[in-house]
Amino acid sequence: VEKPKMPYNLIGEKKLSMLVDAFYNRVSKHELLAPIFPEDLTETARKQKQFLTQYLGGPPLYTEEHGHPMLRARHLPFPITEERAKAWLGCMHDAMDEVELEGPVREDFFHRLVLTAHHMVNTETPER
Ligand code: HEM
Repeated sequence: VEKPKMPYNLIGEKKLSMLVDAFYNRVSKHELLAPIFPEDLTETARKQKQFLTQYLGGPPLYTEEHGHPMLRARHLPFPITEERAKAWLGCMHDAMDEVELEGPVREDFFHRLVLTAHHMVNTETPER
């Protein structure tokens, strides 16, 4: 059944795909983020497109291929500090600007990502 009010339908597959590509382009150049990601982000971006599709109320593409997301558990192998969460969100914010995702749909989406990103933090930021 079509659910036209779902954010996924408001954003659309094409813009979501452009967003994820713009996001990982920034991640790959970020000094705090690049070191914990694989060099080739093709597969990471493919999974993120699947995940965000279902996160935004679209078809459950991620779960169909990979099972329950268990996002926090899947992130445990990577040291995610508060500053890396902020960096991740900064890349996403700039990617949203780049693809001109605007208005309430952007605000709601970004707010959910802030909560999810902070939930991923699993490592204390080292003192410097
Ligand atoms: C995978 C880092 C937040 C969704 C990954 C990977 C890293 C990572 C290093 C592994 C990439 C790979 O091996 O291909 C981070 C950092 C975050 C963060 C530093 C900062 C808080 C998030 C958030 C979401 C998310 C907020 C969702 C809204 C995913 C998904 C995957 C993933 C779906 C793929 C999982 C899989 O392998 O099936 N992330 N992440 N991440 N991340 Fe994050």
